[in-house]
Amino acid sequence: MSEYPGSEYSGAPVLISGNEVLLAEPAIVPDHPFVGREAELRICRVAWGTSPDGTKLADNGLQPLSFRLEGAPGMGKNEIVYQIARTLNKPLFIIQGHEELTPEDLALLLTPTPGADYGTIPLQLRASPLATAIHVGGLFFFDEINRVPERALSPLASVLDGRQYIYSAMTGTNIGPRDDEARRGFRFCCALNPALSNAGYVLPEYIEQRTLPAIEVQAPPPSDLRRIIETTLKPSRELLDEFEAWYAREENHEMSVRQAVTVVNYVMSLMHQVGDPNPGVFDKVPRSLFGRRR
Ligand SMILES: Nc1ncnc2c1ncn2[C@@H]1O[C@H](COP(=O)(O)OP(=O)(O)OP(=O)(O)O)[C@@H](O)[C@H]1O
Ligand SMILES: [Mg+2]
Repeated sequence: MSEYPGSEYSGAPVLISGNEVLLAEPAIVPDHPFVGREAELRICRVAWGTSPDGTKLADNGLQPLSFRLEGAPGMGKNEIVYQIARTLNKPLFIIQGHEELTPEDLALLLTPTPGADYGTIPLQLRASPLATAIHVGGLFFFDEINRVPERALSPLASVLDGRQYIYSAMTGTNIGPRDDEARRGFRFCCALNPALSNAGYVLPEYIEQRTLPAIEVQAPPPSDLRRIIETTLKPSRELLDEFEAWYAREENHEMSVRQAVTVVNYVMSLMHQVGDPNPGVFDKVPRSLFGRRR
């Protein structure tokens, strides 16, 4: 797991606009090999204004763009964001969008004070992952952003248009960068599943226009999928060949990366019970076990 220097995220409260606030902790970025996606990574890095190799935020004097990843579940949207954060070696803060999210969930929350005794006021202001990223100049990823009600997205306007602050209605204050370095370091991106728009989960126009470029994340080429399975599950070459032939034969391009990894995982487990892979082993797995891409 990646670790970031300093204990500022889990330590003492910091002072923001006169309020004592605990900062959110960065996400734990999984430490496994990343495969392919060169074209997508390149667009993301141009949008965020990094050096060409993605290791540094280049100070090019331009406003960074808040890119949006669009793709079916399990295609690898999170993995792309993790890879960018890994290469930059900067803390990544994540909010998982859902239908019950409120505007204050994006700014400050009142939470029980860790380790409070009787006699003290057991409540503490805690910055959301977004407010923390703005304040310290971290990377921020808003996942499943189109599931969030429009009312809750409204505070994002001031975050995404260069003003770079978020309003907390509870304290009546704006939370902005703590210094110039934090102002230069903050980056925003988001992800959504466009198929949900049929069910009414659409982004308001003003957020859609502020989260560009929109990058489509489709199924990776079969050779990359093979490599993902190889590095994730370490199957035998024989089984990988079986998988590859099955994947090419069938209309399995409907499958997400996650479904493909799961099918191979299942077949490997099956092999432990019944012995070595026999030709056509993937054809014997009922399709209904692993669903279809939506
Ligand atoms: N480029 C990649 N390199 C290595 N593994 C990958 C890659 N892309 C996807 N995977 C594998 O596929 C799984 C699903 O990817 P990920 O969680 O990024 O998908 P997602 O598009 O964010 O899905 P959801 O919409 O359900 O959140 C990962 O846990 C990982 O095992
Ligand atoms: Mg995801």
